[in-house]
Amino acid sequence: TLTTTATLVDEAVHAGVGVAAFNAITLEQVEALLEAAEAADRALIVQLSENAIRFHGDEVAPIARATVAAIESSTARASLHLDHSMSLDLCKAAAASGASSVMFDASHLEFHRNLRATAQAAEWAHDAGVLMEAELGAVGGKGGAHTPGVRTDPDEARRFVDRTGVDALAVAVGSVHAQQSRETLLDLDLIEAIHRVVPVPLVLHGSSGVPDQQIVEAVRRGITKVNIGTVLNIAYTGTLREHLSANPRQSDPRPGLGHARSAMAAVAAELLRTVHSTRSA
Ligand code: G3H
Ligand code: ZN
Repeated sequence: TLTTTATLVDEAVHAGVGVAAFNAITLEQVEALLEAAEAADRALIVQLSENAIRFHGDEVAPIARATVAAIESSTARASLHLDHSMSLDLCKAAAASGASSVMFDASHLEFHRNLRATAQAAEWAHDAGVLMEAELGAVGGKGGAHTPGVRTDPDEARRFVDRTGVDALAVAVGSVHAQQSRETLLDLDLIEAIHRVVPVPLVLHGSSGVPDQQIVEAVRRGITKVNIGTVLNIAYTGTLREHLSANPRQSDPRPGLGHARSAMAAVAAELLRTVHSTRSA
């Protein structure tokens, strides 16, 4: 069942729980995520990043429309989100193809330039009825938000949200994208400090490297949307790799992709339960 990201985020905020936002690249991965949401009986935000969309060609439409169709035929409640887009045109195209939320990522820019570009994008999003997530993490304008060591400043975050009008904010609190093992220690006090002064839901990126217990604690301290990609790809690609090496003469891609899809669904179902932990336990 297709719903909107705004609905899922609002529900999570009111229930004091986290909402999972999982990345997919292929259609089999979209299917795996929906299978997981059905099995775990949890709602889910399905994310396609700008990079994932570009893999399928310059047009956003085919993979986005296929994802929306898969969501519509699933019993799980899910929405489609455009993740990490540096292009406002792509945001518009994604919205036209069924995405109810977008992440406009100008976090590589210096604070004031990020602010200006994001405010402009947010104006479009609000006119279009689309939830806009933005990112602030390059304190002083240096580095990317997920460069190790970079942190979001609570006061800057408050000003940034006030002046851009964004609906959700991705923050740099210790997580780093594309970690292969789950060893990240988050700056939990910083999450709490940002949550105290920022009036919109907070988003944790790069959550693949964050252990379960830290994810639960992050939600308890003020994170709402938890983005996970890499650990799901590890399950998918790792299983596919094993299957293909064990069956070097098999040409039908379906057995390998089927195993990969099941392995990803199993990991996603576990993570859905973890992310959906209560904030005020
Ligand atoms: O936007 C996507 C997430 O930040 C995923 O990060 O692949 O490190 O889990 P990850
Ligand atoms: Zn991210």
